[in-house]
Amino acid sequence: MPAYKIHEHSFDMVVVGAGGAGLRATFGLAQKGLKTACITKVFPTRSHTVAAQGGVAAALANMGEDDWRYHFFDTVKGSDWLGDQDAIEYMCKEAIPAIIELEHYGVPFSRTEDGKIYQRPFGGMTTKFGEGPPAQRTCAAADRTGHAILHTLYQQSLAHDAQFFIEYFALDLIMDADGACRGVLALDLSTGELHLFRAQGTVLATGGYGRAYFSATSAHTCTGDGGGMVLRAGLAMQDMEFVQFHPTGIYGAGCLITEGVRGEGGILRNSNGERFMERYAPSVKDLAPRDMVSRSMTIEIREGRGVGEHKDHILLDLTHLGPEVIHEKLPGIAESARIFAGVDVEKQPIPVIPTVHYNMGGIPTNYHGEVVQLRNGNPDEVVPGLYAIGEAACVSVHGANRLGSNSLLDLVVFGRAVANRAAETVKPDGKQATLAGDACDQALARLDKLRNANGDTPTAVIRDKMQRTMQADAAVFRTGETLSDGVKKIREIHASFADVKVSDRSLVWNSDLIETYELSNLLGQALATIVSAENRTESRGAHAREDFPERDDANWLKHTLCSVGDDGTTSIDYRPVHMYTLTDDVDVVPPKKRVY
Ligand code: FUM
Repeated sequence: MPAYKIHEHSFDMVVVGAGGAGLRATFGLAQKGLKTACITKVFPTRSHTVAAQGGVAAALANMGEDDWRYHFFDTVKGSDWLGDQDAIEYMCKEAIPAIIELEHYGVPFSRTEDGKIYQRPFGGMTTKFGEGPPAQRTCAAADRTGHAILHTLYQQSLAHDAQFFIEYFALDLIMDADGACRGVLALDLSTGELHLFRAQGTVLATGGYGRAYFSATSAHTCTGDGGGMVLRAGLAMQDMEFVQFHPTGIYGAGCLITEGVRGEGGILRNSNGERFMERYAPSVKDLAPRDMVSRSMTIEIREGRGVGEHKDHILLDLTHLGPEVIHEKLPGIAESARIFAGVDVEKQPIPVIPTVHYNMGGIPTNYHGEVVQLRNGNPDEVVPGLYAIGEAACVSVHGANRLGSNSLLDLVVFGRAVANRAAETVKPDGKQATLAGDACDQALARLDKLRNANGDTPTAVIRDKMQRTMQADAAVFRTGETLSDGVKKIREIHASFADVKVSDRSLVWNSDLIETYELSNLLGQALATIVSAENRTESRGAHAREDFPERDDANWLKHTLCSVGDDGTTSIDYRPVHMYTLTDDVDVVPPKKRVY
């Protein structure tokens, strides 16, 4: 192996990723006086948060009765009781100051007549602990809320003393012999030079791994790089079997059409023109949670009531909303529908299909954003120096199914939480722990191996096989048969990575090499997903097993932990769900049948 020159940096905290969570953490840490670096593979305002549309949940009660306790109840129920109730309490309570803070930072929210933040209904958000009418809880900037938030957070970041390393790709975590994280090794994409970021704390804000699937609303950059590094560091991922399908991806193109359309009164219709959600969720109808709507759409299609030449999709009708609502509240999706479906939404319905959208699973953390693992019988043991936030993490506030608009919330609340925690535990300008001379050797050997990979299978071929297998075998509905077939295939595809071919041997703007790293990150998580899904013999939230149609709390009210070795060996373990709250401000919601 040639001697690779490494530039060394020393920071109190290093944040990997510059989406909503990464930026909120970055400037929060800098604000607390910690010397902070943010490294990101894309320019911050191109991070996937920019694509979030419908809004961010907080019980502000601007447009009707609301209470954060109702939000707490809805989130627990939405999670199908797999969410940790202490973390959910924290998120729903903190939502209110976090959104007011965003408003003060300058997020251009849409407004009510009297100048308050505009809030729209979203799926599964109700009042009076599920007994009252739908809540108007989702704070929106038209249908471009993520765009508005991301740009504001980047502006705030520039106002603080954090250092950005833009278009740097994180290769691997640097762990010490005691299992603590001491930083990250990254490649400067534009120069091909290597940089070791030593830090007292490393925060993974790297987003989800939606691109393990063929059709996803996620950007092509959503390759779960943090999760990939965590698996390579020998740590377990949590609840990977829970993959959210958003009911309304544009048929064929996969682009998101926000749930905000249904929040504004849009209706899903089958080939008979029927508003079929009335049959599946009589009280909330089209505003049922996403797992239920996606399943209902799939059943309609299977039973022959799909639309189009192949009767394989559904229609989202907003023609009755009128031009004023569309122009003011939904201008972005009108444009997307015109460009990607050739549809004028004022006159025609949009062809839609459930499309992979979000990973409820991820790197296990507590509500401070500290990564936790099951060690020596302790299910909540903190991994020193390692944090995860946003979609990369599994706190777990979303459990088996996330409610729409709780994701932007999770980003800002836990981005802020990690900064608060580090302010208590990290010493500004503290000394770095001693690092062994060979601490980077494994990461360097891997880089050298991939850069010179001279097998017979191009990266794109392996990726395509993985994506098609995940799409077919870890879908909205799953059976033991499709899952065991899928596990076998994904194991083979994972093994075929040993035969990968990288054609570009340089280190400067080597997109071939970076896509190969991204593929390797995806492969580990695809395997963890399908193995965990085969293992969980019940139906809960987004994990719908046709051979085990009922939720089974006696055996499965627990988080799955899944580790994946370099050779593709997997091992499964469990952590208990936190069925307790942080304070007496709210009562634990005991499990019951989840009906809407
Ligand atoms: O439908 C949407 O606007 C997506 C929101 C979310 O995933 O939270």
